[in-house]
Amino acid sequence: MSHTVTIQPSGHKIVVEQGESVLEAGLREGFALPYGCRNGACGSCAGKLLAGRVHYPDGKPAAITDDEIAQGKALLCQARPDSDLEVEIREVGAAKDIQVKVLPCRVAAMDKLSHDVMRLKLKLPATERLQFLAGQYIDIILRDGRRRGFSLATAPHEDDFLELHIRHVPGGRFTDHVFTDMKEKTILRFEGPLGSFFLREESDRPIILMGGGTGFAPLKGMTEHAIAAGLERPIEIYWGVRAKRDLYLHDLAETWAREHENIRYVPVLSEPAEEDEWSGRTGFVHQAVSEDHPDLSGHEVYMSGPPAMIEAARTAFASCGLPDEFLFYDSFEYASDTLHALDGN
Ligand SMILES: Cc1cc2nc3c(=O)[nH]c(=O)nc-3n(C[C@H](O)[C@H](O)[C@H](O)COP(=O)(O)OP(=O)(O)OC[C@H]3O[C@@H](n4cnc5c(N)ncnc54)[C@H](O)[C@@H]3O)c2cc1C
Ligand code: FES
Repeated sequence: MSHTVTIQPSGHKIVVEQGESVLEAGLREGFALPYGCRNGACGSCAGKLLAGRVHYPDGKPAAITDDEIAQGKALLCQARPDSDLEVEIREVGAAKDIQVKVLPCRVAAMDKLSHDVMRLKLKLPATERLQFLAGQYIDIILRDGRRRGFSLATAPHEDDFLELHIRHVPGGRFTDHVFTDMKEKTILRFEGPLGSFFLREESDRPIILMGGGTGFAPLKGMTEHAIAAGLERPIEIYWGVRAKRDLYLHDLAETWAREHENIRYVPVLSEPAEEDEWSGRTGFVHQAVSEDHPDLSGHEVYMSGPPAMIEAARTAFASCGLPDEFLFYDSFEYASDTLHALDGN
């Protein structure tokens, strides 16, 4: 039997299915509830029970005392509702609300998505989870302390594995390793989540997501989050690459557009190959956006990818009237290769 949980002070309602914890249901429905370990050990998911009853199927979690339970505290990662509930908990609204961690992870899967893009699926230790906002990135910390930034391509509710889309930079210290001798089960270290490039959910402006190459990665996380959260705002995804073989998850993007009325997908090729027989859009991706939207004053734009694309688009979109405060971007700058201490400072 399912139960409805009303979150205060937001008033958001979550339907918790039989056997699910309140946190699992909340994340599944796209709400940014705070959490850390997801196994009852850290206390990050604590909320105050204002009405209703819960139980803990595996016994009282380590991070809560009998006194705290008596005072109405509940650990939402473990709590199963016995009735409809009203719970007070502060939802995560900004990157500053999330703890940045340095964690080890194991490369659980490597799939070559195209001639120069590898998907890595990273698995965290059993007792750890990474909370993040859709679109944020992590820094992989190399053995010598150098760092390489990669965007999270998954939505926050799918945190069993962290997914990265890595483009091979020939001669690049880290990406050469990924494409030549890295094997599944390799252990990496990273710091994250980082950055302020994440989907703003409080706005009701139509959204444009624009990516160049692997700039598609954070946009995938944002789109999957928007779908899970039931966002009904129009979302237009412009993906710019050189040729058709570079649209490494083209079918997925087409499926989003086919299955969701509010999603439109526009692939744009800058140098289509002859064998592509391409009848779609060509040219630079930011030009396709400005051609379709000569007036961007009412939109919100998120863009990620090569620095040259970001620079050109900033100027172009300002001329289309996009206010600065509604433009969000991650420019895939190359690492300056300053050494950082391994302790994450
Ligand atoms: C916030 C952020 C998010 C990012 N997200 C992603 C992502 O999701 N997917 C992804 O593939 N990349 C992403 N990048 C870019 C990525 O971090 C770099 O491409 C990567 O660090 C290259 O590492 P490397 O050790 O192989 O190359 P390096 O050893 O750092 O570089 C070797 C040589 O290649 C040049 N170079 C480095 N990167 C590039 C590049 N991208 N294009 C052209 N020349 C380059 C350098 O100037 C240098 O001369 C992101 C960058 C940032 C800052
Ligand atoms: S997330 Fe750590 S106790 Fe619930």
